[in-house]
Amino acid sequence: MTAPLPHLAPPPARIDRSFLQDVIAGLRAPQKSLSAKYFYDRRGSELFEAITRLPEYYPTRTELAILDRYGPEIGAGLPPGAALVEFGSGSTTKVRRLLPHLADLGAYVPVDVSAEFLRSEAEELGRDFPRLRIEPVAADFTKPFDLPDDLKDAPKAGFFPGSTLGNFEPEMAAGLLASFARTLGAGATLIVGIDLVKDKAVLDAAYDDAAGVTAAFNLNLLTRINRELGADFDLDGFAHQAFFEENLGRIEMHLVSRRSQLVTVAGIPFHFASGETIHTENSYKYTVPGFRALARTAGWEHARVWTDPDGLFSVHALTASTIRRH
Ligand code: AVJ
Repeated sequence: MTAPLPHLAPPPARIDRSFLQDVIAGLRAPQKSLSAKYFYDRRGSELFEAITRLPEYYPTRTELAILDRYGPEIGAGLPPGAALVEFGSGSTTKVRRLLPHLADLGAYVPVDVSAEFLRSEAEELGRDFPRLRIEPVAADFTKPFDLPDDLKDAPKAGFFPGSTLGNFEPEMAAGLLASFARTLGAGATLIVGIDLVKDKAVLDAAYDDAAGVTAAFNLNLLTRINRELGADFDLDGFAHQAFFEENLGRIEMHLVSRRSQLVTVAGIPFHFASGETIHTENSYKYTVPGFRALARTAGWEHARVWTDPDGLFSVHALTASTIRRH
């Protein structure tokens, strides 16, 4: 007879090393942090979909309404035969709203890290828009990448909806816009959706909804780390926190430790003081002039802006003037 083993979660079969390294580095910092890009496992993506349907979460439905209402104007600004490159296409919900207004489109180029998802989405889109040339590119849009050779001579347009740019520090956001300019080339157009600064109460509610869906989304990051990295976060030991930090113009999301506790990730212990937080996301909000100024530092001149009647969200058309190194 052998003594019963203490109860331990079995280590996951295969560990994503860069995920593990990011988590360890983030939890070792004086202000603990985790990257928002890790929210989107299967459950996280489902929870984000649920967020977009919440009464308090206005960005998605407002942006879609802007694309529907001004689609013809947005389409009219793109050169005939243009290749439309969507950075981080994910699901094709947004571009589907624009495509009916883009009769002269030369090609649609969805760019996404998930090759699998990209293929299935492209196939489905092809069924719904049979005359559309679709050329998916599997790439991380935060790093420089090449467009397919056969699009060399086509005029270029970029599409970056969803206020995804708001997840990046302004300096990083400018760097990303500059890299889009290099990918698309001088003279290109960029259609970008960005959330606007507004009343703090409206912003706070959008990221701390009454039904607790955003809280579940935030906490799911710990569930994912437990499962994929063999960690032992107690989900009842952490609370969701989200607030608009007016001085920095950003929503901050945190997970607050409810007590002093020790958590182990891949065998490494991390101490949390009571009230200590893990910073999990920033979501920057811009004013229209503020966003134009940021875009200009990255080589993009503003052409047009469309907003909803309440001024909640903005869709910008920008033109690549010069190609600058950032
Ligand atoms: C997908 C980055 C645009 O910042 O509003 C929603 C993510 N986080 N609720 C956002 C999010 C919490 C969302 N973006």
